[in-house]
Amino acid sequence: MSVAQAFDRAADYDAHAGIQRTVARRLAGRVAALDLAAAPRVLEIGCGTGFLGAALIDRLPGAHWLMTDIAPAMLARTRARFAGRAGIAYAPLDGEAPEVAGGVDLIVSSLAAQWFADLPRAIDRWRRLLAPGGRIAFTTLAAGSFAEWRAAHDGAEPGTPDYPDAATLAAIGLDVTTETLPVRHADARDFLRSLKAIGAGTPRAGHRPLSPARLRAAMARFDASGATASYVVATCIGAARRQEGLA
Ligand SMILES: C[S@@+](CC[C@H](N)C(=O)[O-])C[C@H]1O[C@@H](n2cnc3c(N)ncnc32)[C@H](O)[C@@H]1O
Repeated sequence: MSVAQAFDRAADYDAHAGIQRTVARRLAGRVAALDLAAAPRVLEIGCGTGFLGAALIDRLPGAHWLMTDIAPAMLARTRARFAGRAGIAYAPLDGEAPEVAGGVDLIVSSLAAQWFADLPRAIDRWRRLLAPGGRIAFTTLAAGSFAEWRAAHDGAEPGTPDYPDAATLAAIGLDVTTETLPVRHADARDFLRSLKAIGAGTPRAGHRPLSPARLRAAMARFDASGATASYVVATCIGAARRQEGLA
């Protein structure tokens, strides 16, 4: 199943997206503190159901938004969330290779870039869309995410992807901060259900599923250790050209 199909099927996304809501609010705070053009042209990549827009829209008065997502069903929910609001356009778009007009003042994205096959290439493409002085601000999952789930596998490989560490992200020319946000689940089943419900249950390419017995053992260890899964979230700030010290 493709990422777009997985998210199109995530009908109960909002019910299992507490962490996404938190991360979007924090990113909105970082964006609001940036030195941006007045009435900026904003491109949002992977808008999902609109958490980041909801947290940011009133903090960027007069902005002209283009909200985009690769999954049409998610985009439709953002459109419904902002129905009647002026200054917002919507488009289905692959954010890894966005075919949109340039001259953008701000590209924002929350917890979508971890799905990209080639993040550095995508960021190069984003940079080319920026107007002079334009900024990029996005969050993504970083190395160490779901460490408790990995530990519960006792040496076996979980299907969750290997996320980049802060140094790898900084090497793309981004100003990077990371924070670890632990989420307590009822049990392993609830953790797996929440990954699936938000469309994040697609195992990484080439992953060989565990046998049912080993999966049950991993779930039991996860439960015994407190059923907590940590998201390591990287907030990345960039500009049209690679620069140091952007935040
Ligand atoms: C975990 S959700 C985050 C959604 C929203 N930004 C939020 O904070 O709730 C990831 C979103 O990224 C979208 N996505 C994944 N790959 C994408 C791509 N290549 N281009 C655009 N959107 C993508 C998914 O369809 C989904 O809506």
